[in-house]
Amino acid sequence: MTKKSGGMKIGILTAGGDCPGINAAIRGVGKTAILKYSMQLIGISDGFTGMINKEYRELTEHDLSGILTVGGTILGTSREKPFKSSGKNKNEIKRPVLIKEHYEQMGLDCLVCIGGNGTLKTAYLLSLEGLNVVGIPKTIDNDVWGTDITFGFDSAVNIATEAIDRLHSTANSHKRIMLIELMGHNAGWIALYSGIAGGGDVILIPEIPYKEEKIAEYLLRRTDENKPYSIVVIGEGVENPHKERSVAHYLSNRINELTGLETRETVLGYIQRGGTPSPMDRVLATQYGTAAVDMIAERDFGKMVALKNGHLDSVPLSDVSGKLKLVAPDNPLVIQALNMGTSFGV
Ligand code: F6P
Repeated sequence: MTKKSGGMKIGILTAGGDCPGINAAIRGVGKTAILKYSMQLIGISDGFTGMINKEYRELTEHDLSGILTVGGTILGTSREKPFKSSGKNKNEIKRPVLIKEHYEQMGLDCLVCIGGNGTLKTAYLLSLEGLNVVGIPKTIDNDVWGTDITFGFDSAVNIATEAIDRLHSTANSHKRIMLIELMGHNAGWIALYSGIAGGGDVILIPEIPYKEEKIAEYLLRRTDENKPYSIVVIGEGVENPHKERSVAHYLSNRINELTGLETRETVLGYIQRGGTPSPMDRVLATQYGTAAVDMIAERDFGKMVALKNGHLDSVPLSDVSGKLKLVAPDNPLVIQALNMGTSFGV
């Protein structure tokens, strides 16, 4: 039964760090809005910056064609934080007011915000200003509270795991300690999952503070056991005493100093955010997009679509805003890895 939405006009924006799957989510929103509910879809450029500057265009079915597999975001993104002022520019405080004015001038019935923690917090604050908003959780970091998983995460784990797989052969050939630093901001999800998937011997995540001496002891013990090389997988958010260089560079030098073993480091960086989404991310992003429009048709605003125990659900943005979903030290994956002899640097 197709429920007419009375020709609602919905805006959609993508904000924060890009990731594979955003265009799949835009496509899921757009096709459902246009084909199921006869809604009008307005694509806003470069995240909240586009709402401030009224930069937008109508998205038609044609615009949505062929974007399922395309990385990045066809709308562009920014890290604009309308409610966070630097205090250097008196016009900054007007940004939320401008967003609300433009939302009304554009005749929007709802604003779909695709983003991570910062975006979802901004969406929540805009809902307090009276805008109808729906959030869609995206980030490679998988650190959005309230949902099992964000799209972008699976693609990043695939990319990171392939990189780790490749490090094994060069580490073995040279009998080296290979360190790889992965993204994830203050959460260790990417390092944990790709570390296990890639057979990392040491997995360092921000949630479990490491001790250099423990890492050194573990690596020397492996050498004594005639294990000729080791792989150290590092989440970028772990403690880095030398801020001017990567933590992988710091730890590579320290491990060499403490053990005398030859080390090399790789910082995988933005490779983890690029390219086509994994099939799982394409499916998840599509699910989130279509579910968001169903919520809009029901005028169920102020919430984020979510996956809970494998089922599509929704969570009030008030519950999500300002929170992070971090790896608990007693996470079953951590315990299982420890039981298999993996070191977490403790
Ligand atoms: O939030 C996604 C993310 O890739 C983090 O993992 C990383 O720390 C951050 O963005 C990098 O931010 P930027 O794209 O602004 O350099």
